[in-house]
Amino acid sequence: MSTPRSQARTPPAALVMFGASGDLATRKLLPALASLVGNGSLSDGMVVVGVARSKWSDDEFRDHCLQAVPNAKPAWAEIVKRFRYVSGNYDHDATFLRISEILQELDIPDGFGGTAGNRLFYLATIPSLFGEVARGLARHGLNRPGVGGKFARLVIEKPFGRDLETAEALDETLHECFDESQIYRIDHYMGKETVQNVLALRFANSIFEPVWNRRYVGHVHVTVAESLGVDHRGSFYESAGALRDIVQNHVMQVLALTLMEPSATMDPTSIRDEKVKLLRSVMPPRIDEVETAVVRAQYTAGTIDGQPVPGYREEAGVDPQSTTETFVAMRLSVDNWRWAGVPVFIRTGKRLAKRSTEVVMVFQRPPHLPFAGKLVRGLQPNALILRIQPDEGISLRFGAKVPGGDYRVRTVAMDFSYKDAFGTDPPEAYERLLLDAINGDPTLFIRTDEVEQAWRLLEPIQDAFVEGYPHLSHYGAGTWGPLEAARLLEPDGYEWVNP
Ligand code: NDP
Ligand code: BG6
Repeated sequence: MSTPRSQARTPPAALVMFGASGDLATRKLLPALASLVGNGSLSDGMVVVGVARSKWSDDEFRDHCLQAVPNAKPAWAEIVKRFRYVSGNYDHDATFLRISEILQELDIPDGFGGTAGNRLFYLATIPSLFGEVARGLARHGLNRPGVGGKFARLVIEKPFGRDLETAEALDETLHECFDESQIYRIDHYMGKETVQNVLALRFANSIFEPVWNRRYVGHVHVTVAESLGVDHRGSFYESAGALRDIVQNHVMQVLALTLMEPSATMDPTSIRDEKVKLLRSVMPPRIDEVETAVVRAQYTAGTIDGQPVPGYREEAGVDPQSTTETFVAMRLSVDNWRWAGVPVFIRTGKRLAKRSTEVVMVFQRPPHLPFAGKLVRGLQPNALILRIQPDEGISLRFGAKVPGGDYRVRTVAMDFSYKDAFGTDPPEAYERLLLDAINGDPTLFIRTDEVEQAWRLLEPIQDAFVEGYPHLSHYGAGTWGPLEAARLLEPDGYEWVNP
């Protein structure tokens, strides 16, 4: 795993991980922590307290932490020896009393310095329990730092509600227990280096920003394509679907960074103010436009990387008659001075041909081509392609003369690759986000008004889905989605840029 080139060590703290036996903790959080331990980013006074229902002892939890990261550096095994575990339900006061006792013990300086009263509560558990946990923490005074401590923070995972109403209700509960400044909402896309690089590309260079507007950009695409299916998360996905799972959060965050106005500084308030301003300008289709401006679809059986895979309705935990969408595409507009009239197309789906997240800024065609038509046939408009994953990098697509006697022009690309330029793969998103949460930097976390605005703008589409339109199309696993997705762009004369 790669090393974030950082930075002073974090302050000491107890990281209380609700859902410590779960998938997210095991596959993402523990490996990210192990990597941070391995590169010396964490204080020696850092201790994890796992919480879940599984009836584990401290030692069983420690074994779980070791097994979750088989290739960790030796420092991981050392720090894991201090980890603690609480088995319990979140609706039992006994669970929080035990957590409180353990935290007080850990605060006291020992050979490693102690956790010094600092607490980070990470809700990596099922979303219906977020409110319950926040209330339990507040009831036991755990919404404040321990003696001598500087912070008590609550980190929560998506989904933040399932629509505007439930998101507001969740926020109301969280705000009864914690101040907004203590709440760190994670959208792991914000932890991806290449998502953050959108800001560097735009604002650390002078050549892009002058053309980053309606005068030069013809249209914008955002693609979040996955080749994976729903895996073992079928029953969760049944109640989510692609709109809630990916569009409301990951796509909207990427879009906001790509299209927002320049922020005067990188301070958290300025960046988040600009993102929310942009989200307020995004115009979703009206309910009567959804039929033509939105596509929803579900995958059927197909082939990925030469292997046959089942259709969505055959996946474990999925209703054989399910109408949950595994693919969504739509046309949006952004009603502000910079982007008026520039269509923004977004699409996301599971079991697509390839895993790829990209933003493509497609520029307008030159007003006049002096070359004979047949010499420039097939020439594509200029495009700047931001490859968020995999193969992180940036490509600039342009026309170049083909060697030879005439003026044949062909589309070529200039390419920047993260790996080649920096000699390393970008670090995992959760490493950066964990570090920022412990250090108290909220810039990459999602503020309540962003969450609510993203839900608000999707409301007409959610309402239409409930009413049963647009009709549910189908696409074979391993393709780029249904034909309707290609047709979405036809009226504007565009086509998707497939990676
Ligand atoms: P899992 O179902 O794998 O894990 C849920 C965890 O919560 C388990 O540790 C479980 O413990 C614990 N738990 C459930 N109910 C209770 C209860 N009543 N009392 C105490 N503990 C309980 O979920 P994930 O890890 O997949 O997801 C966790 C969160 O992270 C969700 O909000 C999800 O949306 C989000 N997320 C997950 C991602 C992923 O890749 N998995 C990606 C992005 C976000 P036990 O089994 O021991 O009872
Ligand atoms: C999660 C979704 O938020 O993001 C998953 O719940 C999805 O369904 C995942 O697979 C994609 O993340 P990444 O980092 O693999 O693009």
